[in-house]
Amino acid sequence: MAKTIRKYLIAGNWKMNKTASEGVDLVNEIKLGIGQKMDVGVAICPPYTALESCAKAVEDSNIQLGAQNMHPKLEGAYTGEVSPVMLRSMFCTFVIIGHSERREYFKESDAFINEKVLAALESSLKPILCVGESLEQREANATFEVVKTQLVDGLKGVTAEATDHLVVAYEPVWAIGTGKTATPEMAQDVHKMIRDELTALFGEAADKVRILYGGSMKPENASELLNQPDIDGGLIGGAALKAKSFLELIEIAHSK
Ligand code: 13P
Repeated sequence: MAKTIRKYLIAGNWKMNKTASEGVDLVNEIKLGIGQKMDVGVAICPPYTALESCAKAVEDSNIQLGAQNMHPKLEGAYTGEVSPVMLRSMFCTFVIIGHSERREYFKESDAFINEKVLAALESSLKPILCVGESLEQREANATFEVVKTQLVDGLKGVTAEATDHLVVAYEPVWAIGTGKTATPEMAQDVHKMIRDELTALFGEAADKVRILYGGSMKPENASELLNQPDIDGGLIGGAALKAKSFLELIEIAHSK
């Protein structure tokens, strides 16, 4: 079931895992188990090198495709980069933008992330804008301030009309790949603050934006997280690399 006007989205971020053929094997396993669950949005975000093979593999299913990053320019002399046009030509629907691993290891700034969000929307890609605080920032009681800045700066210039195409993911950095999950209440507090900020920016249209939780989400903790009023799905790392756990997460969202 969906939450009022928002349909749950279970999105797998494969990070730097799976070759083109391993990706197809995983998609095929997911397809076998997924059945007809039209009430839950399902997306996979393989590495660039597996996008083409996975695009073919998901063709006859409800699974949508996303990329993990992109450059904001449409083309040009940017060695090693991939443009929104290229992602559209691979049939991508979504693109993850501003993941904490990009912010940390590749020094991506809020201004650069904002360029990407705008470019994605202009190219008819749905950005999944990632925000989240580090452990240090949480311990310094700076969570709301950090997340708010990332959100507001990342969304500069985005209009209320674009909210249909916008997804936000709250990923506390200390919970990513660590096995530590934010408690459902901790996550809901931040999701609610994000919803309030979106309302300040976009008015009623903010109710359409899906806010995903990410950070060690797995079948054991997903139900309680998804029960929270402002948690509209998950951006899943480790548990998206195995069909069994990814399918269980989809089933949990479906059962709501
Ligand atoms: P884990 O689920 O492995 O903690 O990763 C979360 C994440 O970073 C998704 O983008």
